[in-house]
Amino acid sequence: MLRSIILAVLASTLAQAHIIISYPGWRGNNLITNETFPYGMQWMYPCGGYPTTTNRTFWPTTGGAVAFQPGWFQGHQTAFLYVNLGFGTDGPGGGPRNMSFPMVPPFQLLGPSKNPYPGTVCLPQVPLPVNTTVRAGDNATIQIVEIAAHGAALFSCVDITFAEPNDPRIEKVNKTNCFNSTDFGFAELYTITTHEPGASANKTSGALSRLLQPTASAWSWFGYLPVVLGSVWMIL
Ligand SMILES: *[C@@H]1O[C@H](CO)[C@@H](O)[C@H](O)[C@H]1NC(C)=O
Ligand SMILES: *[C@@H]1O[C@H](CO)[C@@H](O)[C@H](O)[C@H]1NC(C)=O
Ligand SMILES: *[C@@H]1O[C@H](CO)[C@@H](O)[C@H](O)[C@H]1NC(C)=O
Ligand SMILES: *[C@@H]1O[C@H](CO)[C@@H](O)[C@H](O)[C@H]1NC(C)=O
Ligand SMILES: *[C@@H]1O[C@H](CO)[C@@H](O)[C@H](O)[C@H]1NC(C)=O
Ligand SMILES: *[C@@H]1O[C@H](CO)[C@@H](O)[C@H](O)[C@H]1NC(C)=O
Ligand SMILES: *[C@@H]1O[C@H](CO)[C@@H](O)[C@H](O)[C@H]1NC(C)=O
Ligand SMILES: *[C@@H]1O[C@H](CO)[C@@H](O)[C@H](O)[C@H]1NC(C)=O
Repeated sequence: MLRSIILAVLASTLAQAHIIISYPGWRGNNLITNETFPYGMQWMYPCGGYPTTTNRTFWPTTGGAVAFQPGWFQGHQTAFLYVNLGFGTDGPGGGPRNMSFPMVPPFQLLGPSKNPYPGTVCLPQVPLPVNTTVRAGDNATIQIVEIAAHGAALFSCVDITFAEPNDPRIEKVNKTNCFNSTDFGFAELYTITTHEPGASANKTSGALSRLLQPTASAWSWFGYLPVVLGSVWMIL
């Protein structure tokens, strides 16, 4: 129901569209390209062009569901997804100081086609970032980052206020607002180290070696090849 409403509302913006946070809420529709955002609003760090909002939504102090529709853009059958938290309101524009707290390991989305596709991904129990605790009443911002095939990133956020898990102000999570569409697949991400940092620093000799020493870190950076492997499954 919710999905079909959102689909209907957004049908007209398909061509420019990117990602929608359907649970627990959204700063606002940033599927916009205009003179202010000639490349598209949703590419703007950290929250896709929208400043911090005051109409916060409630989310459990123990972590909870996050659902989104990742497929509202063209040309990207696969994407990497990140869910981060930023704490508080003492940062730029009354938002968090940073969005540097990952909540889940990044994962890859395998979409059904290169064209914009509907469909929802729901992570039913996104935990708080590792080693963090919050109290009811604390404010924070959940950020979803979607890395497109060419490496650029789309951003969307929802501003939240933490509440006790049984707080009636938290929207109930159920099969209507939290489900995975059957035409999405997922993959876990691994990296394989092909070159330890500094491993090649001493292989060159003499003056050339001394010349190259300061750039050893740059060499080793190229030694890391992020790869995506295995554990690919489809939800059927
Ligand atoms: C906050 O208000 C904006 C503007 O009306 C709306 O687009 C957005 O969905 C609202 N966010 C929440 C979490 O209610
Ligand atoms: C572009 O859209 C954003 C979001 O609605 C709005 O804040 C901005 O004023 C718009 N720019 C122009 C030139 O209309
Ligand atoms: C949390 O945000 C709301 C809405 O912007 C604000 O009224 C409230 O004072 C904030 N609470 C804290 C602890 O900053
Ligand atoms: C990021 O935000 C956290 C929480 O507000 C803060 O403790 C930390 O110092 C910030 N880190 C930086 C580099 O600003
Ligand atoms: C969490 O805390 C443990 C114990 O202090 C520490 O070893 C670990 O590195 C921390 N993890 C993160 C992501 O900060
Ligand atoms: C799920 O919760 C929403 C919001 O509380 C409600 O509108 C919807 O009817 C519920 N769906 C089911 C299947 O209970
Ligand atoms: C959707 O798929 C993700 C990735 O496999 C999984 O973590 C999550 O639990 C699934 N959501 C539901 C509602 O089953
Ligand atoms: C490279 O040479 C330096 C200086 O001789 C030495 O400290 C370092 O351990 C060597 N690194 C490796 C990977 O052998």
